[in-house]
Amino acid sequence: MGLDELSHKPHDRLAAYLATDMEAVNALIRDRMASRHAPRIPEVTAHLVEAGGKRLRPMLTLAAARLCGYDGPFHVHLAATVEFIHTATLLHDDVVDESHRRRGKPTANLLWDNKSSVLVGDYLFARSFQLMVETGSLRVLDILADASATIAEGEVLQLTAAQDLATDEAIYLQVVRGKTAALFAAATEVGGVIAGAPEDQVTALRIYGDALGVAFQIVDDLLDYGGSDTAIGKNTGDDFRERKVTLPVIKAVAKASAEERAFWVRVIEKGAQEDGDLEQALTIMARHGAMDAARDEAVMWAGRARAALAVLPDHPLREMLENLADYVVARVR
Ligand code: IPE
Ligand code: IPE
Ligand code: MG
Ligand code: MG
Repeated sequence: MGLDELSHKPHDRLAAYLATDMEAVNALIRDRMASRHAPRIPEVTAHLVEAGGKRLRPMLTLAAARLCGYDGPFHVHLAATVEFIHTATLLHDDVVDESHRRRGKPTANLLWDNKSSVLVGDYLFARSFQLMVETGSLRVLDILADASATIAEGEVLQLTAAQDLATDEAIYLQVVRGKTAALFAAATEVGGVIAGAPEDQVTALRIYGDALGVAFQIVDDLLDYGGSDTAIGKNTGDDFRERKVTLPVIKAVAKASAEERAFWVRVIEKGAQEDGDLEQALTIMARHGAMDAARDEAVMWAGRARAALAVLPDHPLREMLENLADYVVARVR
């Protein structure tokens, strides 16, 4: 099996298995992203929602609920909630990161403006809370409210860690766990909770989501240096330009010679970037095997995710979730 085939399969199989549920989720998303009072809202949300996205997080919620034998209607609400929270954070994130491409299209902040992105993001957050209230479960509210606060904390922590070469792997992990893994963990956990799964299974689902989210973000950070714009649907090199201290940078800085360190201080801390610096950064990273070392770490987290599923029922979805962990590290998008 080629890498390309391997990287797409588990995600597609999961999507095929959950197709009926996913259609219900998409219908609910379309229904709730509208607004009768402010036309700018459906314009912006339609732009982002119609652009697609992998729908990874809602699939995790659906898969977790089905895997635990859920037969009611609310996993659809929860999956839509999770995608709304995700979409809201993307709108805000692209303003913060000054990004110009998302899901293969110009970002909302570029097409409209920062104000629209921030406000429509707020609207989607509020809509997500309305959706989760409909489930009537205070426990899922608690989990998703917690996740929303943790995501914001992760983004703010990253803000202060950027441009600072003292950022180490522990701080990086804290950022990633907050801004990305928190929603993955909540997505899988609420699936188990709504299904009334035993506590050890709910915990396992949470551990799976957290580890999967960490692996996912490490790879996302690698793709920002090593991917292609078309393949990832975003501009590569954004992290370098924004002077973010991501895992491959941390690994390269740890092994830097005096001359290399001066380079990192200039481009990351001082922000005095010149043409050719991104290529130079890639050369230095390659010299120290920084990308490979970061990828090894993503593989390790994917392994942890897979292992956590052992206590869950024997089910085709369990196998698909196991394989999804491999997809996440092999993915091109
Ligand atoms: C993007 O997430 C934000 C990160 C956590 C890196 P996805 O890559 O899942 O985004 P979409 O929904 O598929 O566009
Ligand atoms: C995305 O972080 C995490 C959230 C949306 C909270 P990034 O800024 O690293 O992701 P991309 O590269 O813009 O998708
Ligand atoms: Mg970003
Ligand atoms: Mg960001």
